[in-house]
Amino acid sequence: MILIAFSSLYFPKGEYEVQHRSVNACLALACSIEGKHVITIEGIGSSANPHPTQEAIAYSHGSQCGFCTPGIVMSLYTLTRNNAKPTGHDVEEAFDGNLCRCTGYRPILEGAQEFAVPDVNGCANGKSNGCGGHEANGCANGHTHANGHNHSGSDSECPVGCSTVECTAKKANGTCSVQNGSVDIEDLQKAKHRVIDQTKDLPFPEPLKQQTDSFMFAHEDGAWYHPTTLAELRQIKHTYPNAKIVTGNTEIGIEVRMKGFDFPVMVHVSDIAEMAGYEEVKGEGVWMGVGTSLTTFQDRLKHFIATYEPHQTENFQALLDNLKYFAGPQIRNVASIGGNIVTASAISDLNPVFVAIDAQLRVSSLKGGERTIAMKDFFIGYRRTLLQPAEIAESIFLPFTKKGEYTLAFKQSKRKHDDIAIVNACFRIMVDSQNVVTHATLAFGGLSPFTRIAQDASAAVVGRKWGPDVLDGVGEKVITKDFVMGSATPGGMVAYRRQLALSFLKKFTLYISHKLDTNSIQSTELSALSEIERGLAHGSQTYDREPEKPTTGTSPTALEGAVGSSIPHLAALKQVTGEAAYLDDIPRLANECYAGLVLSTEANAAIESVDTTEALAMDGVLGYITATDIPGYDPADPHNRNIVGPILHDEELYATKRVHFHGQMIGLVVATSELVARKAAAKVKVTYTDRQPLVITIEDAIEKGTFFDISREIRTGHFDARRREAEVPLDEAVHHVEGVARMSAQEHFYLETHASLVNPKKEDNEIEIFASTQNPTETQVYVSKVLGIPANRINCRVKRLGGGFGGKETRSVNLTCALAVAAHKLKVPVRCMYTREEDMAISGQRHPFRGDYKVGFTAEGKLVSLEVMITSNGGFSADLSSSVLERAMTHVDNCYRIPNAIIRGRIAKTNIASNTAFRGFGGPQGMMLCEQFMCHVAEYLGKPVEEIRQINLYKTGEITPFRQPLTDVYIERVWDELHQSAQFEKRRREVDEFNKLHTHRKRGLALMPTKFGLAFTARFLNQAGALVHIYTDGSVLITHGGTEMGQGLHTKMVQIAAHALGVPVSKIHLSETQTSTVPNTSATAASVSSDLNGMAVLNACNTILARLAPYQSHTPPLTWEQMINKAYFDRVSLSATGFYATPDLSYDWATNEGRMYNYFTYGAACAEVEVDTLTGEWGCRWADVCMDIGKSLNPAIEGAFIQGLGWCTLEEPLLNPNTGMLLTRGPGAYKIPSFRDIPVSLNVRFLSNVSNSRAVHSSKAVGEPPLFLGSVVFFAIRDAIKAKRREVGEDDGWFRMDSPATGERILAACGGTDAVLAKDVREEGRAWGVAA
Ligand SMILES: Cc1cc2nc3c(=O)[nH]c(=O)nc-3n(C[C@H](O)[C@H](O)[C@H](O)COP(=O)(O)OP(=O)(O)OC[C@H]3O[C@@H](n4cnc5c(N)ncnc54)[C@H](O)[C@@H]3O)c2cc1C
Ligand code: FES
Repeated sequence: MILIAFSSLYFPKGEYEVQHRSVNACLALACSIEGKHVITIEGIGSSANPHPTQEAIAYSHGSQCGFCTPGIVMSLYTLTRNNAKPTGHDVEEAFDGNLCRCTGYRPILEGAQEFAVPDVNGCANGKSNGCGGHEANGCANGHTHANGHNHSGSDSECPVGCSTVECTAKKANGTCSVQNGSVDIEDLQKAKHRVIDQTKDLPFPEPLKQQTDSFMFAHEDGAWYHPTTLAELRQIKHTYPNAKIVTGNTEIGIEVRMKGFDFPVMVHVSDIAEMAGYEEVKGEGVWMGVGTSLTTFQDRLKHFIATYEPHQTENFQALLDNLKYFAGPQIRNVASIGGNIVTASAISDLNPVFVAIDAQLRVSSLKGGERTIAMKDFFIGYRRTLLQPAEIAESIFLPFTKKGEYTLAFKQSKRKHDDIAIVNACFRIMVDSQNVVTHATLAFGGLSPFTRIAQDASAAVVGRKWGPDVLDGVGEKVITKDFVMGSATPGGMVAYRRQLALSFLKKFTLYISHKLDTNSIQSTELSALSEIERGLAHGSQTYDREPEKPTTGTSPTALEGAVGSSIPHLAALKQVTGEAAYLDDIPRLANECYAGLVLSTEANAAIESVDTTEALAMDGVLGYITATDIPGYDPADPHNRNIVGPILHDEELYATKRVHFHGQMIGLVVATSELVARKAAAKVKVTYTDRQPLVITIEDAIEKGTFFDISREIRTGHFDARRREAEVPLDEAVHHVEGVARMSAQEHFYLETHASLVNPKKEDNEIEIFASTQNPTETQVYVSKVLGIPANRINCRVKRLGGGFGGKETRSVNLTCALAVAAHKLKVPVRCMYTREEDMAISGQRHPFRGDYKVGFTAEGKLVSLEVMITSNGGFSADLSSSVLERAMTHVDNCYRIPNAIIRGRIAKTNIASNTAFRGFGGPQGMMLCEQFMCHVAEYLGKPVEEIRQINLYKTGEITPFRQPLTDVYIERVWDELHQSAQFEKRRREVDEFNKLHTHRKRGLALMPTKFGLAFTARFLNQAGALVHIYTDGSVLITHGGTEMGQGLHTKMVQIAAHALGVPVSKIHLSETQTSTVPNTSATAASVSSDLNGMAVLNACNTILARLAPYQSHTPPLTWEQMINKAYFDRVSLSATGFYATPDLSYDWATNEGRMYNYFTYGAACAEVEVDTLTGEWGCRWADVCMDIGKSLNPAIEGAFIQGLGWCTLEEPLLNPNTGMLLTRGPGAYKIPSFRDIPVSLNVRFLSNVSNSRAVHSSKAVGEPPLFLGSVVFFAIRDAIKAKRREVGEDDGWFRMDSPATGERILAACGGTDAVLAKDVREEGRAWGVAA
């Protein structure tokens, strides 16, 4: 998301004020910026002269791939322009609509919090210092919210939630440092509190200091009207009843982009003052203009709440409560009340409140005049209302409440912040002096196609005396009479939605009971009244590595950025200022065209016909490209050039006869512009025939027996005849458990989608490719194969990627090859960048896995045997599935010695996109399966799972099931250090105590280890090359085979070269990765790119250093520049290649012999969560991570941890089982963790005094290993659920809970009568969505 800031005039009292608003650039229509001052990232600073906000993000490591960074900076910039003294809470809130997939957010917050003012209100747990309270709500520790909700906070706890040590280390700024003599990065980097000199900020332009005039802009397809009075608007709507009213465009924008809607005539109403004001009606309520933006609406509601008696503003508080979780500030800054009402979404957040509080909508038209409609009658069907085409919604009347009247609103979504609701509701009751209910309105959203009142249920409440049982039977009426849903109901999650309705009613009962009589409910029930509050995110990173002294110290500043020092990403300043260029920033080439995709809309069907007539007739269209345009294409040849695939060559580049999944590429429409290409592609008509049943899930594949012809097996101990006697006898296992564990897919969600530009040269068939790929060589090789042009004519160039995470290792190649066919045929450069929805539909995800296991163990819990069948869902083609499977199979032991094992693996072949590499590459799936059966063992034995984990931890010298002896095993040390520093036993007691005292809130704790094997499992990939040039001025240019995708690879390579050559980092430049400079490279993957390329860079440097040796001992000593100059004139070559191949790697799957991995990285994580057992919402209170990463080159692990956390909690791709269409496309439907989903406190420490002889500078890889540790949050949630299950009398033995721990799964697993009731209602039809 790119954000821009709008500065515009606002006339609250005749005089103007300038307001600065961050907005989503993609939703801001060009015509709507008339009269506004638009500020972009490039406008506020440059890398030479950065704005303080840019500097703060860059220096806090808040920019990795950098693709999200402009949006992050603009959110912060807007905040600081509007508020010179933001609190820490203001800072966090400013980012509610931003996403980042790389950093794990903590570094961004760390930089941004430099602008927060320290709290001055005397609260020890000041708002900016980690206090969980909100600005309106005061302190977290037991103070009361303005809305009467309490939340629990323990005075005995560290106010910033530090778990690492007793809170003696709290610093003035509220962060915690661990005082153990180690380097605390925070101390180094957060020395200052930044204050912005606003006089230096861009001034609001003088010519804009006037009211915007009415205007009309006619264009070839229609017109844009910009009236500034209601009279003008009514006239326009009278003349053009179908003209689309647009206010914030946050709904219409989505309809146009995602649903293909077209609105030729638009009327922009944001500048009509009559629709944006308000009018108070004494003692009655307020008429609010519906053109009011939601941000302004929030401000006004706060004003009313502060002005009127609390009993009068119950309705306003309910609105404010729901607005708190309505989108992010960038949307609320422009979205309007009217837009939300008229959209008539079934899950609108405002409409349930408007309906419940009996709000009245004033509408008007030129002919019909004014009329008022009760909001409870306004909605008449799915996105249908009583508004007539020529009518305008003008204002809405919001009544005051009276004494004895109570209103409360609820919302539950997949992600707490910036997400649409699954179910929302607003309940309003009136009671008389005897507390007998005289009126009840129970309004729900998300249970039917439109917001409406549960009539039966509401009527049933009236006449009852309020008490704990007042709503008995009412919930059942809601879900069985008022809202009846079958399992195929759009949106799915039917049992969860029913359960939420019941939970909301329970919360409401307790809330009102408490309000009427504070002693009426038990203290253990109070937890139902509040939501899980979180303090400000904070954390620390602790490691003890001193920067290494360079080997050749000729520069006084040689230590600058040396190996081991944590320097910012070298491109950080360019990324925060918008100077860093991504693929789509490459200026348009001469004659460049764009490719629009023609994708299949069916799965497993034959293509009957393709009609391109309409598309080709459009102006600007150059042609339609298919397999037949591939030079030398021979459909009769089973190995023809249209057949691609990284290992098996089993998929078509362009589908020819059959399509296998929904979203498969059939052809490309090439046109002179993106707009035309996309429009034309949409006009291509494809018909299908011979539809065959779909295989979507692993279970479908097992039932139908559809697997790839690939299987693997590991046998060890008594399952291997050759080695039987060497292992523990099988009969030592006196207990066995059998079970199934399942985990879902994960979308990469790199912020930059797949993109390529192919430029055919005029001479010698040369082709220049710019690609966002992790695999330049494979791109080159496949373009060469498809076009039949030798590889030496093809140069693939990669400057940087806006994230990859494995998703651009192979699936990027297909797009480039398809474009190459078009470019080669049409002899023009062709570019394409997938939309987010295309990217998600086409390019595959992390493999979902299922494990069917049987585990044998002793009474103590020592593992004796494992028999497991591991099945992954590969999708329609093999891609890298076999390697992913191998890694899963070799990580199913996680950190535990299992002497006897038979591990089998197979890959389901299904009608979904081909699943592919994703950070961890099957490792996390294998380890997740392992930890699931460890829970099973522990719960069978009735012991804590941590005890079972600990007694089984590997020791040095022990052998893995795939027969690799383990050397330098540090896992016991990691485990013990973390167990101690996290005060696990104390925390356990506290969590248990908390759970006894809270019925509707449970806390959970988990401590879990990880071990990750480093090396490509395909031996030949473990090689790398580099090229180092030293120029006569002493500057150095290095190139290597890896690509920069945010992980800081180039930074590390520069550090290595600087260290080796003994020059400052500033002397070294790394421009881009190219196949013409370093050939035959491996993909930047498997976390070994630093190891491999680093060694290659080092080798190249050493070669040059050997040549420079005579000059280094020169007397008097020479400066670097003198030395280089002298060597040049002596005709010494100052350029060298470097090469590295990891030694001693080989593995034979047939015998299970050989060395699979070069070394292992170990780690452990401990986390505590709190779960709302009425809604399934959870929050991670803290997480501590300890890792052995050798002597890290420049460590950053939070991003991987948070990605792992997302994988096993929030992220769940779902498909339509009937069509195979991915339902969770785009950020609206698929939720990655946001700023407020990270642990409140995340403390990372690296094991001290460890080294690694098998990698460059004794470092260990950090890219993938921490990812699995994020799943400690899953197991902590599971622990909390166990506490609830015990309380409600569910069996306390093992229970199956698959990953991810979505709210839906959490609530179902918590059990209890509501779960039974919600499930018991008969469901009809096939599920709406399934996990593959
Ligand atoms: C990222 C994102 C997050 C979102 N999160 C939420 C959320 O959490 N909760 C939620 O409820 N919604 C959410 N939405 C939906 C949307 O933002 C809201 O519905 C918003 O209030 C729409 O207001 P708008 O001014 O942008 O409407 P527009 O897009 O401008 O218009 C929407 C519709 O209303 C009509 N309209 C607007 N004003 C009038 C008027 N005065 N008279 C007649 N017709 C009118 C338009 O013609 C159009 O049909 C989200 C959207 C996005 C993109
Ligand atoms: S740095 Fe945020 S997405 Fe890459």
